[in-house]
Amino acid sequence: MLLIKNIGQLVTVGGNKPKSGSEMKEINVIEDAYLVIKEDEIFDFGKSKALKEQNQYDKVIDAQNKVVMPGFIDPHTHLVFGGDRSYEFKMRLRGVPYIDILKNGGGILSTVNETRKSSYQDLLDVSNKRLDRFLSYGVTTVEGKSGYGLDKTTEIKQLEIMKELNEREDIDVVSTFLGAHAVPKEYNKSDQYIDYIIQEVMPEVVENELAEFCDVFCDEGAFSYQESEKLLKAADKMGLKLKIHADEIINTNAAQLAGKLKAVSAEHLLKASREGLNSLRENDVLAVLLPLTAFSLQEEYADAKQMIEMDIPVALATDLNPGSSYSQSIPLLLSLAVMYMDMKPEEAITALTLNAAAALNREEQVGSIQKGKKADLLIIDAPNYNHLFYNFGVNLVEKVYKNGKLVFDNSLENRKF
Ligand code: NIG
Ligand code: FE
Repeated sequence: MLLIKNIGQLVTVGGNKPKSGSEMKEINVIEDAYLVIKEDEIFDFGKSKALKEQNQYDKVIDAQNKVVMPGFIDPHTHLVFGGDRSYEFKMRLRGVPYIDILKNGGGILSTVNETRKSSYQDLLDVSNKRLDRFLSYGVTTVEGKSGYGLDKTTEIKQLEIMKELNEREDIDVVSTFLGAHAVPKEYNKSDQYIDYIIQEVMPEVVENELAEFCDVFCDEGAFSYQESEKLLKAADKMGLKLKIHADEIINTNAAQLAGKLKAVSAEHLLKASREGLNSLRENDVLAVLLPLTAFSLQEEYADAKQMIEMDIPVALATDLNPGSSYSQSIPLLLSLAVMYMDMKPEEAITALTLNAAAALNREEQVGSIQKGKKADLLIIDAPNYNHLFYNFGVNLVEKVYKNGKLVFDNSLENRKF
């Protein structure tokens, strides 16, 4: 058993169901606390004065009055991709819209070319590096989507890479099949491509257990409401859980579709209508918001405040991808959430822990500090959790524990000069 003592603030978040409305700001902080890990699980925690005999522990860690909290969970990324799109970033800086680049054969399609060309090993290595960076920012579970293959071989290659990384690396990787990310150049009709995905690719993904979720980019320049519905209904029949890239560029009523199909989550929602949000609330669909994308596309941020007022559980994610959000910066994400989306610091913490776990159907296992949950924890080098926002843009993660094991250590005593 491992004891972490002298915790200045233990931010437990608490609970094993997504939080909505005013619950989102209840993060259950215990001042002057201890926590005990047994094997890979949280065994006990509480006020320091309630701590019993210390000699029964195999190891004792002194948290030096710092903050301990659940590991961050990033429920929306596109982490397996080849190449980069820095030249497109410069075009966007000159005012060329993101969607025009895609319509002219660039954007997602240029990453598709690069990803098809990359060997399995090269893609594995570059994705592994991205996972290491996530871990250094305190991310202990991450979702990853396919969608840069748009053909059977490459879609499967992306998913197999995520499977291998999940088995091999400390961080957990949850896979989503996003075969319907864009229409590849081999098809000039999007409906024919949807049929190909449903008939040829999805059955193999399911048979080989390569994904838990199916997602679709339901938007201008990608797939219509009808095509998205057809694809997701087929995915549901084959046993995949559902997610939607919804109403990012324009409002396509994708949020309503998420509600109608009882998707686990609707993501982006920059242009979602009031009816769309009502549909999310009525059908218990989580809203996954991506402030780094809005920042990078210089768009209005999603209306988190309204969603929280409407009782929709809100989660946050990086959307790491080479086009609309080439960033893994958890500190920037947290800052944008509180400075530009009107979220309270406590709400942002819930959104990136428990609610993010719920967006991956993992709320019973991770996302909060509860007895019996996995010991995925962070030691934050600060006297209180407000520093995650106040000390903006700075990575304050000092130690990361995954399944009770120390997997990242940035403390001064560990650094060799
Ligand atoms: O979530 N919107 C669609 N997919 C990604 C962008 C992918 C890309 O530009 O490569 C997103 O923003
Ligand atoms: Fe995305």
